[in-house]
Amino acid sequence: MSFDGKTRILKIDDKSLKAARELILSEELVAFPTETVYGLGATALSDSAVEKIFKAKGRPSDNPLIVHVHEDYDIEKLVYIDHDYARKLREKFVPGPLTMVYRSRGAVSPIVTCGLDTVGIRVPYHEGARKFLRAVGVPIAAPSANVSKHTSPVTAKHVYDDLSGKIPLILDGGKCSGGIESTVLDVTTDTPIILRSGLVTAEMIKEVVGKCEYSLNKPTDKARAPGMKYTHYCPRCETALFGANETERAQSFYDICVKDGKKPLFLSYGDLDNKLSGNKFYLGKTAEEIASNLYYGLLEGEKTYDVIIAFEVVTGSDVDVGIMNRLSKACAKK
Ligand code: TXA
Ligand code: MG
Repeated sequence: MSFDGKTRILKIDDKSLKAARELILSEELVAFPTETVYGLGATALSDSAVEKIFKAKGRPSDNPLIVHVHEDYDIEKLVYIDHDYARKLREKFVPGPLTMVYRSRGAVSPIVTCGLDTVGIRVPYHEGARKFLRAVGVPIAAPSANVSKHTSPVTAKHVYDDLSGKIPLILDGGKCSGGIESTVLDVTTDTPIILRSGLVTAEMIKEVVGKCEYSLNKPTDKARAPGMKYTHYCPRCETALFGANETERAQSFYDICVKDGKKPLFLSYGDLDNKLSGNKFYLGKTAEEIASNLYYGLLEGEKTYDVIIAFEVVTGSDVDVGIMNRLSKACAKK
């Protein structure tokens, strides 16, 4: 099956899964839902298929991709599981929003790993992702299904807005519930190291393994998760980020924007909401709710508004770390 330049959005059923399988086996791209964000998939076994992902996204060629497999797939065909703690983590968190970086057996295309000797494996929990991975039967390399630097998509329409005309098929599995990308965890070391924070938190990992560290990821470090060094998650409008106790300053900034003829939007959460007046998108109260609605708020906001005004997220949950990692990058000066 080849690509005629037209992008189709199809609900997930036997017919669309058959089309997805044919496209993947013909080395074409298929976007699919997961419980975190939508992924842009290609067979991880073909150089030319994986190259198409980098081209469609405009992604830097030194940023490796995660390999997605169905839970019935034997990952030891692809990687070495060097530490027993990794098996324990799999029992507890797989399938789910956790990517584990293992030593590679070299079975996937070197373009997936950008020549690294490790590979990140994720087994999604989402029903649609499972059906897709079962139907295709091959490991699927997939980054988030957005144009590089843009906010990650959480609906099929968001994927369409970014990649229409560049990919043949988007499988529509509704809005992603998790809302931020998977936790990326290096399990090649004696102590597991979080390379990217997400819904599976350091505390949750410590409960199973007894220990867990964060990668420092200082700008000067040779990045362990190469993706963390790039501009990321940015909506296509102006942004401003205020502290959680800076609602008055944020309100003044909002009012100035209005005076300047701009349309601003507050991304509010929790009790902050009561202290703000104007256009608001409410993210939720708990960290999980906020994560779930964060990209949705940014992507819906950029369509209608000129400036998105967000706040530091402090709920007391460990998930705040992952949310703030995304939000501070989304609001960084471009
Ligand atoms: O939730 C998710 O993880 C989504 C869905 C589609 O699964 N995928 C996703 O992929 O966010 P992407 O490409 O946007 O981010 C992958 C991250 C990057 O920060 C990359 O550097 C890191 O994982 N990564 C991938 N393979 C790695 C490896 N072998 N060693 C270190 N970091 C790796
Ligand atoms: Mg991404």
